[in-house]
Amino acid sequence: MSQGICLQELPVDLEQERLPKHVAVIMDGNGRWARDKGLPRIMGHRRGASVLKELLRCCKDWGIPALTVYAFSTENWGRPEGEVDFLMSLFEGKLREELREMVAEDVQIQFVGNLQALPKSLQAEIERSVSATQDNLGIRFTVATNYGGRQEIVQACRAIATQVQQGKLQPEEIDEALFKRYLYTADVCDPDLLIRTSGEMRLSNFLLWQMAYSEIYITETLWPDFDRAEFHRALSAYQQRSRRFGKV
Ligand code: FPP
Repeated sequence: MSQGICLQELPVDLEQERLPKHVAVIMDGNGRWARDKGLPRIMGHRRGASVLKELLRCCKDWGIPALTVYAFSTENWGRPEGEVDFLMSLFEGKLREELREMVAEDVQIQFVGNLQALPKSLQAEIERSVSATQDNLGIRFTVATNYGGRQEIVQACRAIATQVQQGKLQPEEIDEALFKRYLYTADVCDPDLLIRTSGEMRLSNFLLWQMAYSEIYITETLWPDFDRAEFHRALSAYQQRSRRFGKV
C-alpha cells in the first residue's frame, strides 16, 4: 500500500451504507513473502507492520468504524525464540513510534488477549497507548496479542462461574448477551467480515465466538502484498454476499 497519506475517497462502486462495520484480519504469509525474496522471516513481519498501518488508514478514510487484527496467537510462542523476540520488540517499537499519529488521527487502540504474559516493557507501552487514545472516536483498532479464542471463552466461563459461586448471578441469567459481556470484545460489535491472506482456509483460534456469522474472504495474496486494491476487492466481494444469519 503505497498510495500516500492523503485522504482517499471510497471507490464509487462500493456502497457506503453497506460497508462492514467491523473488519477482522488474519495477517498471514509474512514468512513466505520474505522467503520468496530470499530475506529473513523478520523482514516479512516488518513489512507486514507497514501494510497494517496503511489498512488502518484505509478503513478510517472509507468510514469503517472498527478493525481487529491477529498480531500474535497463544500458539505463536512455539516459534523460534529469535522470531518471538523480534515480534515483541516490533510491537513495542511501533506503538512508541506511532502513538503521536494515532492520537492525531483519532484512533482508539485496544488490545485483547492474555497481556500479562507479554514482556513488561511491551505491557507498559500498551497501557500508555490505550490510555492516550481512550477517548478517540475516529476508528476502533483492536490488536489481538497473545490471543486465543478458546482461552478467551474459558476465561469468560471462569469469571461467570465465580459470579455464580458468590451468589451474584443465577445460572438461568446466563444467556448469549450476558456471555458476550465477559469476552475481551464486550463493547465492540461482532466482525461482519473476516479477511485472511495467503490462501489458508482456517480460523486459527481467532474470535471463535464473535465470528459465528462473519463473512469470510480469503485471498492468495501474502499479507505484505495486501494493498488498497486488494482491500477494495474484499469489500466488493462482501457487498455481493447475501447475509441471512440462518434465516431464508
Ligand atoms: C503470520 O505470518 C504473521 C504473524 C504471526 C505476525 C503478524 C504481525 C504483524 C503483521 C505485525 C503487526 C504489527 C503491529 C504493530 C501490531 P507467518 O509468519 O505465519 O507467515 P508464514 O505462514 O508465511 O510463515
